[in-house]
Formats: sequence, structure tokens, C-alpha cells
Amino acid sequence: MTKILRTIDEVHQQVNLWKQAGERIAFVPTMGNLHAGHLALVEAAAKTGDRVVVSIFVNPMQFGENEDLDQYPRTLEEDVGKLSRYNVDLVFAPMVSEIYPESVDNATTVEVPKLSGILEGECRPGFFKGVATVVNKLFNIVQPDVAIFGEKDFQQLLVIKQMVSDLAMPVEIQSVATRREPDGLAMSSRNGYLNDEERVLATLIHACLEKLVEAVLAGENPAFAVGHASHELDEQGFLVDYVVVRRQHDLAVPEQDDRALIVLAAARLGSVRLIDNIPFTLS
Ligand code: PAJ
Repeated sequence: MTKILRTIDEVHQQVNLWKQAGERIAFVPTMGNLHAGHLALVEAAAKTGDRVVVSIFVNPMQFGENEDLDQYPRTLEEDVGKLSRYNVDLVFAPMVSEIYPESVDNATTVEVPKLSGILEGECRPGFFKGVATVVNKLFNIVQPDVAIFGEKDFQQLLVIKQMVSDLAMPVEIQSVATRREPDGLAMSSRNGYLNDEERVLATLIHACLEKLVEAVLAGENPAFAVGHASHELDEQGFLVDYVVVRRQHDLAVPEQDDRALIVLAAARLGSVRLIDNIPFTLS
């Protein structure tokens, strides 16, 4: 039976019982509107933990002023239905006032420097502060042994790993590869905002990134290949925030000897902002 809890106290009580019994707690933080990408994380959690906890919380701190906080899909009932089929033990679905009792602006925050200032962080100031803060708080509430994040949000995954390492948090971080629609589009709660025409065009992001990886693997000049990919998206009506080739471990510009690389892109199609990436290795 999947239990739904709304308060920190109730979660602490439940988690304490599991801890006393020596059970390993696996945690999947989400903002809900669950799709197969989220459920892949839940499956990974079930493999590694005795107990699985999923949080569903649309975190206002990570939304910018002109972003889609109010519009963000909230589908708790359907989400809980999906999770109960995956043997999730506990869904934590707090109100905003439970997480930010003194208001979002007066909350204590966590900032991960460097990584938070580039790419997504540059396009969405304050975004990673919001993510790091809420994930830190959720970790303190759920006290997981292991937490699972998606590679779809690769920079977010690195920010969380950096936070856990810098603050010596006793949590293991695991990641799961990006789940895609059959035509390559990375699954995302925001895909639901796309109209039919945009939905068709949206596949181009992944297609362009695939071509970019092939070009870099074939020894083409990365700057040239990036320019080409960005131009192609531009021509199809995307507003490109970035298309880049970076190294995987810190998303810095690659140096001569770096082998583990990643291409990342963010672009807007109408009012919808999409991100994607493909990690790859040079031989
Ligand atoms: P949300 O966008 O709901 O995503 C929750 C988790 O699902 C994240 O770890 C994300 O990377 C993963 N995910 C999303 N789409 C995926 C896909 N197509 N394949 C694999 N994994 C995917 O990310 C957040 O929420 C929030 O920032 C959060 C971490 C919950 C903090 O508020």
C-alpha cells in the first residue's frame, strides 16, 4: 500500500521505524506529473532499497519570476495511482507552507558555486539554488540511504553530487539514463505544453545532438559542429539558449586530453523551453 503523507513530522515517524528495522531507504525527488522517465528512477530505487519514497513537490524556489510555476501540471491523484503500481511505500506531497514556513524569500538556502553559474544556471538565475535547497531539505526529511536522479537533467545531477560531497551528506547518489519517446524526444513534464506542430519539431533537438556527437567522434572541429547544430535549430524556429560540447565531470570546456564528454542543448519552441544532452566518450 502506498501511503501519502503531507507533513515532515509524519515522514520522520515513518522513516524512524524503517531505520530501526535496519531497512535501506531509496528516495526519488520529483515535481510530479509523472512519466516513464520518473518511473525508471522509481524502478532503480526499488532495486537498491528496501523502502521506496517518492516526493512530489512543485518547488517555487526553483522557478524564475517569468517561468511556469502557476502553469506547471499538478496531477497528484494520477501520480499516486502510477506509483502504487510500482510498490512505492511512501509518497511525500507537502504543501508549500510545510517546506517554506517563513515564505520562500526568507528561507535558509544552499548554493553550489561554479556549476550553478553556467549553462542552465546562467539562463535561469537562482534555479540551482532552489534545487539544491529543496533537495537538501528533502534529504533531511526522508533521510535516504540512496537517492536517484535522472541524467536528463545532467547539470542538476552534478550540482546534487557536488552538494552531497561538499556538505558530507550521508547519501549515495545514483543516476538513470534519459528515457525518450520513440522518436527520440526526451520525456519531460513540459512536453505536454507543446502543440502538435511543436511536438513534431521538438524531436530536432535530439536529432541535432546526435549529429553533433557523430561529428565530434568523426574528428570534426567541435566549434564548427556546434555552430552547425545551433544554426539548424535556429532555422527551424527554435530560440537557442545554448548548444555546447563540454566534459562530463564538471561541464567545463574540454581540454586536449579529456575523453568523457557530453553535448548539451537548451532551446525554446514557442513558450516551451526544452533541454537535452547526450554523454559520449572519445576513443
Ligand atoms: P522533475 O523534473 O519532476 O524530475 C524528477 C527527476 O526525474 C529528476 O531527477 C529528473 O532528472 C528525472 N527525469 C525527468 N525526465 C527524465 C527522463 N526523460 N529520463 C530520466 N529521468 C528523468 O528535477 C526535478 O523534478 C526537480 O528539480 C527536483 C530534483 C525534484 C527538485 O525540485
